[in-house]
Amino acid sequence: MKTVRTIAELRAALEPLRSQGSVGLVPTMGAFHEGHLALIRAARAECDTVVVSLFVNPKQFGPGEDLHRYPRDEARDAALATEEGVDLLFAPGVDEIYPPGFQTWVEVEELSHVLEGQYRPGHFRGVATVCLKLFSLVRPDRAYFGQKDAQQVAVVTRMVEDLGLGLEIRVVPTVRDADGLALSSRNQLLAPQERRAATAISKALARGAEAHRAGRDAAAEAAEALEREPLVKPQYVQVARFDGRLVLAAAARVGAVRLIDNVVLEGGQR
Ligand code: PAJ
Repeated sequence: MKTVRTIAELRAALEPLRSQGSVGLVPTMGAFHEGHLALIRAARAECDTVVVSLFVNPKQFGPGEDLHRYPRDEARDAALATEEGVDLLFAPGVDEIYPPGFQTWVEVEELSHVLEGQYRPGHFRGVATVCLKLFSLVRPDRAYFGQKDAQQVAVVTRMVEDLGLGLEIRVVPTVRDADGLALSSRNQLLAPQERRAATAISKALARGAEAHRAGRDAAAEAAEALEREPLVKPQYVQVARFDGRLVLAAAARVGAVRLIDNVVLEGGQR
């Protein structure tokens, strides 16, 4: 595996690989866990060349958010990516992606302002902008995203459609720990007691899904279940339609850590 840090190096490394077949891109912010690895494996299985980007994108974090303590371990990530057969790791510095004077943004309007968007203004503008930049640098045939961030998938899919980017967005199911907690780089910031309490989120969503199957109110029952765990402070528990799927999505604070999760209610599991 080759690690490249500049756009020029990325272009030079990709040039000879393009003629060898399809290119898959897995955009990440690093601190790899099995969720990231599931995306990488899906890309490896479907594409001739696999590019993973590792960039903690400052523009998708709000002023009071956790940019400064976001977990980073590039050496470990590079070792894992090598093991998974990644061809290129693109790990640029902030100035490479946002050169001085940067002022061009992509805004996916409606989708960016509900759910996560209400609690993280500007978040999806940062996500859409960095994804468009990565897409235009790598020019992948397919890009891989996790269902864990269902709204992010919806925003990116809309942008690809609206701007005619001509790449396929592939979505990989949420990978969970044995106790149900959705894997997240932020889980490692939880104290042991908080880590135990955090399982209330996936349990509440499962309760909601069960209620939905029985014709009852998924959001109300999930919210009620979540309220019972004192260490978990819910921000929203809401049903939304993303990419034709009905999803029950939740966000909650557990101590200083903000976690999100969702389950598909209708439209096909993934
Ligand atoms: P990051 O949080 O590092 O996630 C990278 C990719 O891994 C995303 O597509 C995310 O949905 C997926 N992922 C995370 N946890 C997962 C899990 N438990 N199961 C399956 N997939 C999971 O999401 C981002 O980075 C950024 O917003 C990014 C798209 C890289 C733009 O900066």
